[in-house]
Amino acid sequence: MAGQETGKQRASRIPLDYYKHPDWVQRWKLRLTVIAVVLAIAWCGASLVGAGQGNRTFSRGPVASVHAAWDAECSACHVPFKPMGQNAGVSTLIGGAHASDALCTNCHAGPPHSNRQKPAEVQACASCHRDHRGREASLVQLADKDCTRCHADLNLHVAQGVAKYENNVSLFAKGKHPDFRPLRSQDPGRLKFNHKLHMAPGQVLTSDGKPWRLADIADPAERERYRNQMRSTTPSDDVPVQLSCASCHQLDSGDFAANLPADSPAKVLLPPRAAGAYMLPITYDNQCKACHPLTVEPATKGSKPLTVPHRMEPDALRDFLVNAYVGRYIAGSGAALLDAPLPKRTRPGEAPEPVKPSPEQEKAKTAIAEQVLNAEKILYLGKQTCGECHYYTAPPGDGLRVDARPSFKIEPPQVPSVWFTHAKFNHVSHKALDCKACHARAYPDDPQASTVAADVMIPGIDNCIQCHAPSSDSGGKPQGGVRFGCTECHSYHHGDAAPAGLGAAARKPQRTLTIQEFLSGKP
Ligand code: HEC
Ligand code: HEC
Ligand code: HEC
Ligand code: HEC
Ligand code: HEC
Ligand code: HEC
Ligand code: HEC
Ligand code: HEC
Ligand code: HEC
Ligand code: HEC
Repeated sequence: MAGQETGKQRASRIPLDYYKHPDWVQRWKLRLTVIAVVLAIAWCGASLVGAGQGNRTFSRGPVASVHAAWDAECSACHVPFKPMGQNAGVSTLIGGAHASDALCTNCHAGPPHSNRQKPAEVQACASCHRDHRGREASLVQLADKDCTRCHADLNLHVAQGVAKYENNVSLFAKGKHPDFRPLRSQDPGRLKFNHKLHMAPGQVLTSDGKPWRLADIADPAERERYRNQMRSTTPSDDVPVQLSCASCHQLDSGDFAANLPADSPAKVLLPPRAAGAYMLPITYDNQCKACHPLTVEPATKGSKPLTVPHRMEPDALRDFLVNAYVGRYIAGSGAALLDAPLPKRTRPGEAPEPVKPSPEQEKAKTAIAEQVLNAEKILYLGKQTCGECHYYTAPPGDGLRVDARPSFKIEPPQVPSVWFTHAKFNHVSHKALDCKACHARAYPDDPQASTVAADVMIPGIDNCIQCHAPSSDSGGKPQGGVRFGCTECHSYHHGDAAPAGLGAAARKPQRTLTIQEFLSGKP
């Protein structure tokens, strides 16, 4: 066929060693490979010099701000060739996920979550506290699955028996998270109190009742304190007292310091405000005394009122009353008793002459005993004294006799200052809200206003999920949008005592470090 190339012709056109000459693609392939290797060696080399700083090159990214000091000290957290991340699949093959735990605990312990866990199931520190996610990333706000891997079916994860707590908690939502314990049990407090009565103006609930006015507060300093708390323009003494929640419930110590002189050292010691998660406990002296003084004898022309100290058990109060009435008796008509002749001195070996009380002494004794007994009747049987607020361990009437010391006791009030023992709460985070949003029953105008202390006024889950839920819009009303992850409300390293906070002793490392050990991350 004309024009067809012969083998010879082709051989002369294409050099025989054609395939031995690299074209530009192959030349660059080779060059780039060499460059890459050189660069890699240089990169490794560069990271070996420059003590530590170069290690960053291998890092996954900056560690959290609390750990920034060790950003380049990989060995503070990493055991070489032991992957610690749960996601590094190899760790399941070659093991060692827990190897780094000991390094973490050099600086801070991670005490057990519960002593009823199955030890083999507890994950490595790093699998919950994922680092290298940037300075601002939180190490402690975890995804729910870090908790629900056990809590979605807790019975499978307790070492022995069945779970003491709700078996299936999969999400903070109605039906998936139980309602709170305090709402499922009785109020453990043993103090009598009536919110409806005290929050009503003048502490009266009936229209014919006599309102309690500022003038009825005997102590002038206390009267001013309550006057100041009533915001209207300096109310006169005739105005019925109006209490506010803050008259009794405070987050800070401001009110306790109020009566101290300005230069008192205690002013410096008492912080202007405490951390403020919970309300300070109620104390009689600060919140009740002004209107409920423990007066057994009102002031008369000749004498001051007789007021007994608080927090004394009846047995000890007997001594107080005896002393008080002996003093009053002597100061009054009984001064002659002090002039009574002393008993005759005896020689050694001689039996002392029996002392016969004089008729004046006998008289004094019965008079004082009678006064003491009267006072005790007022204190324990009258409406407006100890029994108004307290329960007794036994009926006091049976225990009131001149010849026997009172044997009954005051039941400890035990008003809880923390209600959720298995979760956190913080009033400061909710300070934008009216107290009524969560404790409506403390207000006299509420249809279910609380009249006895046994009412539990702590809000339930229905209240929380209005905000702590995914954001939605039901009929134009915004709902939810506030975080609702388990770690928002629960701590983890507390071994059954949730309020044991960050400062708890169990969280300290076994050995404290020097500055050098600390900064190098190598104790
Ligand atoms: C404060 C402790 C800490 C320091 C310091 C630290 N890391 Fe990490 N590193 C971690 C944690 C925790 C993980 C697991 C993260 C995860 O699983 O999401 C991790 C994971 C890694 C991983 C992924 C493989 C694995 O083991 O899971 C690499 C690679 C890594 N780090 C490199 C470095 C390098 C390089 C340095 C030093 C420059 C360094 N890290 C310093 C805590 C640290
Ligand atoms: C060389 C010391 C050191 C090492 C090692 C170390 N940390 Fe820390 N870590 C600190 C210091 C300091 C703080 C800040 C004070 C505190 O909260 O105890 C901190 C804080 C934390 C916090 C609290 C963070 C917060 O936002 O409140 C967590 C969680 C934590 N570390 C986890 C780990 C884990 C997991 C490891 C091991 C992979 C580890 N740490 C290794 C020193 C260290
Ligand atoms: C199941 C997940 C989980 C595991 C595993 C875990 N933690 Fe935590 N850790 C948390 C949560 C949640 C918090 C925040 C709540 C709290 O403080 O209890 C926290 C808080 C911390 C804190 C900050 C509080 C403080 O004391 O300053 C440190 C430090 C800490 N963990 C260290 C560790 C160490 C060390 C280990 C391993 C021995 C570990 N954690 C294992 C979930 C976990
Ligand atoms: C390895 C399994 C496991 C993981 C993971 C786990 N828990 Fe638990 N949790 C338990 C066990 C077991 C108990 C105790 C059950 C019992 O005593 O019957 C418990 C008890 C609790 C309790 C009730 C008792 C208490 O001390 O307050 C709460 C609340 C709780 N866990 C919250 C959490 C949160 C929040 C997380 C995630 C940060 C978490 N748990 C992760 C196993 C686990
Ligand atoms: C005169 C003092 C006084 C005033 C004013 C007062 N409280 Fe109380 N509060 C108490 C005492 C005492 C207790 C503890 C006894 C009890 O359980 O009722 C208490 C307990 C509580 C509790 C604990 C839960 C419970 O059911 O026991 C809540 C919540 C509470 N008060 C909210 C309020 C709110 C909200 C206001 C304002 C509307 C308020 N209180 C006004 C004295 C007061
Ligand atoms: C977002 C809802 C919410 C608001 C708003 C709120 N509380 Fe509470 N309050 C609670 C919860 C929940 C508890 C139980 C916390 C605990 O003790 O664990 C509580 C507990 C209390 C207690 C018992 C003592 C304590 O601190 O645990 C008192 C007293 C109290 N609240 C008074 C008030 C007063 C007064 C206001 C208004 C200034 C107020 N609360 C606002 C939810 C709220
Ligand atoms: C502003 C004055 C005032 C303060 C403060 C006050 N109370 Fe009262 N309280 C009254 C008045 C007025 C009454 C009605 C008269 C009476 O029964 O003594 C009353 C009645 C009571 C009753 C009987 C309730 C009933 O339903 O019959 C109890 C119990 C009580 N108070 C306890 C307390 C406690 C506990 C405190 C402190 C936490 C306190 N009060 C603080 C004024 C006050
Ligand atoms: C107006 C109410 C009120 C009256 C009246 C009252 N108390 Fe109390 N009492 C309290 C409160 C509130 C507490 C708990 C806080 C505190 O200690 O101040 C308490 C605590 C006590 C305690 C301590 C119990 C313990 O175990 O913690 C004793 C003891 C006590 N009172 C004895 C008495 C005696 C005795 C009387 C009568 C002379 C009396 N109280 C009258 C309100 C009252
Ligand atoms: C009106 C909306 C609202 C209601 C109702 C509400 N919260 Fe909150 N809560 C918030 C907001 C906003 C924050 C702060 C945002 C944050 O820290 O994620 C918060 C924060 C918290 C925190 C973290 C506090 C801290 O500083 O660590 C806890 C715990 C909490 N809420 C518990 C509750 C509980 C329990 C209830 C129900 C009794 C409740 N909240 C009801 C809005 C609400
Ligand atoms: C908005 C706050 C909040 C969130 C979010 C939350 N809880 Fe709770 N949780 C509570 C409160 C409050 C209690 C009651 C504590 C008590 O009774 O002492 C509780 C109780 C529990 C209990 C004990 C149940 C029992 O038997 O009494 C477990 C277990 C628990 N929560 C697990 C979880 C888990 C898992 C998550 C995440 C899926 C979660 N919680 C999310 C507030 C919350």
